[in-house]
Amino acid sequence: MVIAVVNQKGGVGKTTLAVHLAVWLHEQGRHVAFIDADGQSSSARWIRMAEPGVTLHTENGADAIIERTHNLRSRFDVVVADGPANLSESTRALLLVADSALLPCGATVPELESTADTLRILRNAHQIRPPGLPRAFIVLSRLRNERFLLTREAADAARTLGVPVCDHVVRLRESIADAPGQRTVVWRMGRRAKTAGTEMMNLLSEMRDYGQW
Ligand SMILES: Nc1ncnc2c1ncn2[C@@H]1O[C@H](COP(=O)(O)OP(=O)(O)OP(=O)(O)O)[C@@H](O)[C@H]1O
Ligand SMILES: [Mg+2]
Repeated sequence: MVIAVVNQKGGVGKTTLAVHLAVWLHEQGRHVAFIDADGQSSSARWIRMAEPGVTLHTENGADAIIERTHNLRSRFDVVVADGPANLSESTRALLLVADSALLPCGATVPELESTADTLRILRNAHQIRPPGLPRAFIVLSRLRNERFLLTREAADAARTLGVPVCDHVVRLRESIADAPGQRTVVWRMGRRAKTAGTEMMNLLSEMRDYGQW
């Protein structure tokens, strides 16, 4: 099982989601490998300290990503790949090899529209791969509003993207912003991060059920 976290738009929460997902799957007893394809090694530094039990690889470039994924797929239960901003070749490579693709994205119309380039690559991957692969879903990320309701415009925009949107969301939380600096995940950060930890785990459970991991 290969799960890619992609969106060519920068700073949408790809690395945050990928690291939390990999650590959570490891805690569930899965044998997990992590590919840092984001070109800045930010997730590599984070996950190495957060969970040494996750096997880490850093890859740049489409061919290296394809080769590495092929090699890891048979040796691990799950391979989680953290995609780069801007680099369309690497994003394309990930969408050609992934079983599941998670697209973190903001919840406003302009933010949803900013995933258009990545969705085009996804649609093209769907054309040439077996039906339904990669199984993709959008994760609304970094939401400010406590009582979040997708506005009608944003809901309409999300529907036109043609990709299912997770019911659970990632809220903008100080503890999530602090997690990389502390080299850990939110549910290990004690009482002040309790809500963030619960929200993150609920989202991860929903994605697991939907992605059939
Ligand atoms: N839910 C959140 N609440 C608060 N801060 C967040 C949240 N999600 C991400 N951040 C912070 O926002 C910044 C961007 O997040 P992250 O690095 O996960 O995005 P990215 O999509 O991987 O970025 P890039 O495209 O540069 O790789 C980081 O500083 C991160 O700690
Ligand atoms: Mg990143």
